[in-house]
Amino acid sequence: MSTVQLGILAPAPPLARYLVFSLAPSSDPRDALKRLRATTDGESTVVGIGQSLVLALGRSLEGLRGFPNHSGAGFEVPATPGALWCWLRGKDRGELVHRARLMAQTLSPAFRLDRVIDAFQYGTSLDLTGYQDGTENPTGEQAYAVAVVQKRGEGFDGSSFVAVQQWVHDLTRFDSMSVTEQDHTIGRRKSDNEELDDAPASAHVKRTAQESFDPEAFVLRRSMPWADGTGEGLVFVAFGASFLPFEHLLKRMVGAEDGIPDALFNFTRPISGNYFWCPPVHAGQLDLRALGL
Ligand code: HEM
Repeated sequence: MSTVQLGILAPAPPLARYLVFSLAPSSDPRDALKRLRATTDGESTVVGIGQSLVLALGRSLEGLRGFPNHSGAGFEVPATPGALWCWLRGKDRGELVHRARLMAQTLSPAFRLDRVIDAFQYGTSLDLTGYQDGTENPTGEQAYAVAVVQKRGEGFDGSSFVAVQQWVHDLTRFDSMSVTEQDHTIGRRKSDNEELDDAPASAHVKRTAQESFDPEAFVLRRSMPWADGTGEGLVFVAFGASFLPFEHLLKRMVGAEDGIPDALFNFTRPISGNYFWCPPVHAGQLDLRALGL
């Protein structure tokens, strides 16, 4: 029987490295994917397949599509290229660097490494704004039901769909807000993580209150802060048994329903947006049967 890639359900690791690959022109990805299958367990490294790669294999996967573009008042939510995604999870930065090099060699020459992001834990699962991230995440059986495809058949059961966005924070702007303004941006109190009843409708947790949607829009978030010489922010990562819950949340965040954009846009912007399908694992290897491999 196939199971989910265990890194999806496990808590976010202390350190991570995200790799996004594109497909080299006129290349056949099959051999590279077979090598990847043999060397990936789904636990220390989680792998996601993009729509362009599925098409290059001459297949289609029900539920997988391109990331939706959105524009709001003064901001864009972009979709960016990405054929293959690897989330390298670990606790030693040197080991992650070497694993990333090995991954690039394994996938070469069919795949080209386009983007690398180093991510880390801040305090007790904090975003770089200092707010606790992940409080309302489903856990246990609910997490499994939210994130993992079931009853769709061999090769598909145990898989998961993931939405990934790199957000760039303007922390100078955020720091210039009063603590009350900051709390009203998130909708929770930074000091004790209490949800604020009197937060404005634009507050992030008011926008995204998962139980307020019909049907409820639960996702399993595994986001991590990132930082490098160019800036800092959050790699937002949300797993689901489909993309529908994420799409409902995102639409409300951009103000598509009621014209009220999420207050997060006052200090942060997404610069990437990708959808990937994370295949199941079978006998300790990626199960790529749904892709004809
Ligand atoms: C820079 C980007 C983001 C930051 C800094 C951020 C931060 C936070 C924080 C601090 C919370 C409150 C604690 C918690 O329950 O986790 C939260 C909740 C949440 N966020 Fe985000 N978030 C970001 C982007 C997104 C995006 C793009 C989505 C989905 C489209 C999203 C969906 C949610 C959901 C579903 C909740 C829980 C709401 C609830 O049911 O109470 N977030 N986020």
